[in-house]
Amino acid sequence: MSTEFGEHRLAVVGAGVMGTNISALALGHGVPVVLVDVDQATLKTATATIKQKLRHAQLLGVLPEGREQGTLTTTVNLLDVADATTVVEAVVEIPEVKKKVLGTASSIVSPGTTLISNTSCISIDEMAPWVDRPQELLGVHFMNPAYMIKMVEVIRGSNTDPAVLAAAVDLLSVLGRESIVINDSTGFVINRLLHPLINTAAMLVQEGVASAEDVDNLLEGCLGHSTGPLRTGDLIGLDNLVDSLNVLYKARGDESCNPCELLLQKVRDGHHGRKSGKGFYDYGKVA
Ligand SMILES: NC(=O)c1ccc[n+]([C@@H]2O[C@H](COP(=O)([O-])OP(=O)(O)OC[C@H]3O[C@@H](n4cnc5c(N)ncnc54)[C@H](O)[C@@H]3O)[C@@H](O)[C@H]2O)c1
Repeated sequence: MSTEFGEHRLAVVGAGVMGTNISALALGHGVPVVLVDVDQATLKTATATIKQKLRHAQLLGVLPEGREQGTLTTTVNLLDVADATTVVEAVVEIPEVKKKVLGTASSIVSPGTTLISNTSCISIDEMAPWVDRPQELLGVHFMNPAYMIKMVEVIRGSNTDPAVLAAAVDLLSVLGRESIVINDSTGFVINRLLHPLINTAAMLVQEGVASAEDVDNLLEGCLGHSTGPLRTGDLIGLDNLVDSLNVLYKARGDESCNPCELLLQKVRDGHHGRKSGKGFYDYGKVA
């Protein structure tokens, strides 16, 4: 695959928090994006969100200067990923949903098309039997916001072809990202460490040991955490966090990954964090 950004055509499946982040990152680096989701209303909101993110990224000076933005095409038809050089799957962290989307996408694209999952926790080897060509599958754990955090966690499955991995790292460098390549393991490095921390922080609030603000302030002030774990949970989305914790708990049986009642209650109440306007903190409006 060429390193010229003009040669890349990205398809992003899932237009939520991460699909819009990844699309903005690619468009801002001149790469065209076909964005897929299940309904037009989501795609309409996503288009507005991507515009906002691109403006934000420009204001922060994190996009290459003088590069023409890529074009965005939105669609509810997964068949439209057919011409992509790389497909990034960014649908909900529910194995059955990912299985269907990855399986269908891999049957649509031509051999030689890189398949990336932006999964938070699901093992790449677990996904391998879901796709037609496991050698073309790998994990890329983009951070949130994807256009601001330069580093990405890249996960090599047991079947991933080294040439496919190299092409993905090449694409990520075109997008201005710095890759750290690791071996496969449920939760990888980041979320095996981060998700139990956020769950434990929520448990401390549930037990009345400290308020959300005090927990976050302690982690920030004493340990130098950039936002505190509960603000991070709100940024991730508490619904996604619970789904990811469930994947980790099922695979590892570690009680610190068993989503606590307070998290479950917030999800039941529709308090999903920034994206719904309320989580551990009140954002006043949908952010
Ligand atoms: N939120 C984060 O900070 C973060 C960070 C890194 C990785 N991730 C991972 O990225 C993925 C997406 O997470 P998110 O936070 O964007 O979730 P989200 O809930 O905000 O968005 C998921 C999107 O997927 C869409 N979707 C569901 N089924 C679909 C289908 N069959 N076809 C097309 N679209 C479909 C939904 O309509 C929704 O718009 C998850 O695997 C998550 O674990 C999330």
